[in-house]
Amino acid sequence: MTIRTSTSTALLSVRDVCVDFSPGMIARLLGTSPIRAVIDVSFDVAAGRTFGIVGESGSGKSTTARAILGLEEASSGTISYDGTDLRALRGARRRAVAREMQMVFQDPSSALNPKLRIGHLLTERVKIHRRREYGHRNEIIRNALDEVGLPHAHLERFPHQLSGGQQQRIVIALALISQPRVLICDEAVSGLDVSSQAQVLNLLNDLKSDRGLSLIFITHDMGVARYISDDIAVMRKGLIVEQGPADEIFTDPQSDYTRSLLAAVPALPHSYRFTDA
Ligand SMILES: Nc1ncnc2c1ncn2[C@@H]1O[C@H](COP(=O)(O)OP(=O)(O)O)[C@@H](O)[C@H]1O
Ligand SMILES: [Mg+2]
Repeated sequence: MTIRTSTSTALLSVRDVCVDFSPGMIARLLGTSPIRAVIDVSFDVAAGRTFGIVGESGSGKSTTARAILGLEEASSGTISYDGTDLRALRGARRRAVAREMQMVFQDPSSALNPKLRIGHLLTERVKIHRRREYGHRNEIIRNALDEVGLPHAHLERFPHQLSGGQQQRIVIALALISQPRVLICDEAVSGLDVSSQAQVLNLLNDLKSDRGLSLIFITHDMGVARYISDDIAVMRKGLIVEQGPADEIFTDPQSDYTRSLLAAVPALPHSYRFTDA
């Protein structure tokens, strides 16, 4: 494996993490061995930087994210956040850290209760994660909408009355109310058309610079990965085959697998940029 490390200090540090899925009972009886979904994965994410994870479907990207969030148990390795070993945290302290790491998935409609208006959804989030400031909820909610670039009139709408891109921006507004330091985006723009993709990517970049948010951006799309990432890991079959600064990975890939992923991207010009005009 080729590792080219950056010099910045890490907010999140993943070291030698493995995640194994044990087979179901019948499969066990048939002698099937556990699936090693993530194998000895190590990387650092600095404050205010975007770490991209690319790789084909089934390569272990989502499982890595889920292990960081504590949604899957790592069978070995350490995950430290702000100097604390996450696997040792329990109860209220674990929940407090979980709040600082918010997740954005591919399908925004599955994250938004279809029966509730946007205003209601955002209010609920304030109630849960900003309880002491509940008296200021209208201001908090309006600020969150401003940050994601949506008009306040959308508070009256139901999720189905918004486009996919607008729904994804509401998902991000909900995350922002929780005051995250890390945003984990798992194929967060993969279901959107190109112009909505551009809007959401530019929004994420703005949040990174304005709020100093760290992003983990998981995608199978090399064009998107190149646009958004400062550093990149390329995963294949549970392993990181190559990682380093995005510019180097894209201009001088060391592994054959990375080269094959890049070759599969139809004519990606060097100055490839998303515009949301
Ligand atoms: N809950 C699970 N039980 C068993 N196997 C799983 C589970 N979740 C994921 N896997 C397997 O782990 C591997 C990695 O999956 P995943 O992390 O979802 O990949 P990616 O996000 O890169 O597409 C795949 O082989 C997948 O089938
Ligand atoms: Mg996935």
